[in-house]
Amino acid sequence: MIKAITGTKDILPSEIQNWYNLEDIVKNIMNSFNYKEIRTPIFEETRLFSRGIGEATDIVSKEMYTFIDRSETSVTLKPEMTASVVRALLEHSLDKQFQLNKLFYISPMFRQERPQAGRFRQFHQFGAEALGSTSPALDAEMIILAYQILKKLGLSNFVVKINSLGIPSSRENYKNLLKEFLADEVKNLSEESQKRYETNILRLFDSKDERDQKIMENAPLLIEHLDDESLEHFDEVKQMLLAAGIPFEVDPKLVRGLDYYTHTTFELVSGSVGSQSALCGGGRYDLLVNQLGERDVPGIGFAAGIERILLAMENEKVITEIKPQIDFYIVRLEKELNKKVFEIATKLRENNSVEFDYTQRSVKAQMREANRLGAKKVLMIGGEEYERGTAVLKNMDDGSQEEILLSEIK
Ligand code: HAM
Repeated sequence: MIKAITGTKDILPSEIQNWYNLEDIVKNIMNSFNYKEIRTPIFEETRLFSRGIGEATDIVSKEMYTFIDRSETSVTLKPEMTASVVRALLEHSLDKQFQLNKLFYISPMFRQERPQAGRFRQFHQFGAEALGSTSPALDAEMIILAYQILKKLGLSNFVVKINSLGIPSSRENYKNLLKEFLADEVKNLSEESQKRYETNILRLFDSKDERDQKIMENAPLLIEHLDDESLEHFDEVKQMLLAAGIPFEVDPKLVRGLDYYTHTTFELVSGSVGSQSALCGGGRYDLLVNQLGERDVPGIGFAAGIERILLAMENEKVITEIKPQIDFYIVRLEKELNKKVFEIATKLRENNSVEFDYTQRSVKAQMREANRLGAKKVLMIGGEEYERGTAVLKNMDDGSQEEILLSEIK
């Protein structure tokens, strides 16, 4: 039997209402913060991601679904949206039309990671990107936006972690310092971290290896080596979060896995979903637009994993149970009335949700089906009523019945 590809999953009708509910909440809150939806293609030229996310990142170096298409172009299924949003902004000169572009998205993403609970190869993100301002108010707004969505979804067991990666010059100085600090220890690091020591040293803080963690315990922290401008920016973000009453923790080891960040980075981390606990991650990327299109447009954004959030909601028991419901079920009392039932159903479906029996089931079985589907009303076609040009309409809430004229059904 052919099965879905490892790390992908079907979203079945029994789950779809949870997705609709989540998407409605996301859209409503995005609207109240004045973010407008953007939809970009599922695949892009590979170099957009390698240039945007960074060659040395896990995503680009080992997780992308990349292939050469029939016109010999290297294309990649999008592993994240930020690079695509920036590409669209530049391509359509949105930055020239509006000083500030506030955009949101809900979309599938693709990363060839090792699948486990909360980690898939096709997964879905919702996220937001604000392009055009360096104001710390936007950093705070972005964090509050993510926080409010998770809260509105009913989640409470999560923390907001924030950090600052500063500007590249102070980060470069710090990286040298970290290199020096680790110089004698490199040989004791895990194989992965030895590679990262050369290519992406900040990610050493993310290592799950115990030996690495022990070595990193006393490492100097970037936040202690930031320049004044970066510190001031970070301070303002914290002040605004405090003023808005958003609880947060400063986590100096929060480095994030994508290369484009400057200044504020953040994650909303769940205590309800096991090891893949980052529900949402983001940060400021003031240099990315320039890197991709040589125009200076600062940006900040976040993305959240929908499967992980739904898992957290399930574990926190905040998924509302959804009972099926339709407006009408039409019961056919005699076989000969199949066509009439079909005609009435078609008319009723102009304004109502309607179902009827397509097989030749007994009246009892049809009533059972009406109950299973959560019909609010059952319309019975047949018998003497039909001869009189009427039908019995049963209200399933209170069991009451009335006789109605077939000609008046609409
Ligand atoms: P990210 O941290 O790579 O950031 O992903 C954001 C969120 O997507 C994660 O916190 C997680 O919930 C979810 N996620 C990532 N990979 C998987 C996976 N394999 N399976 C299930 N869920 C996953 C970004 O993607 C950045 N573009 C965020 C951003 C926007 N930064 C600035 N703007």
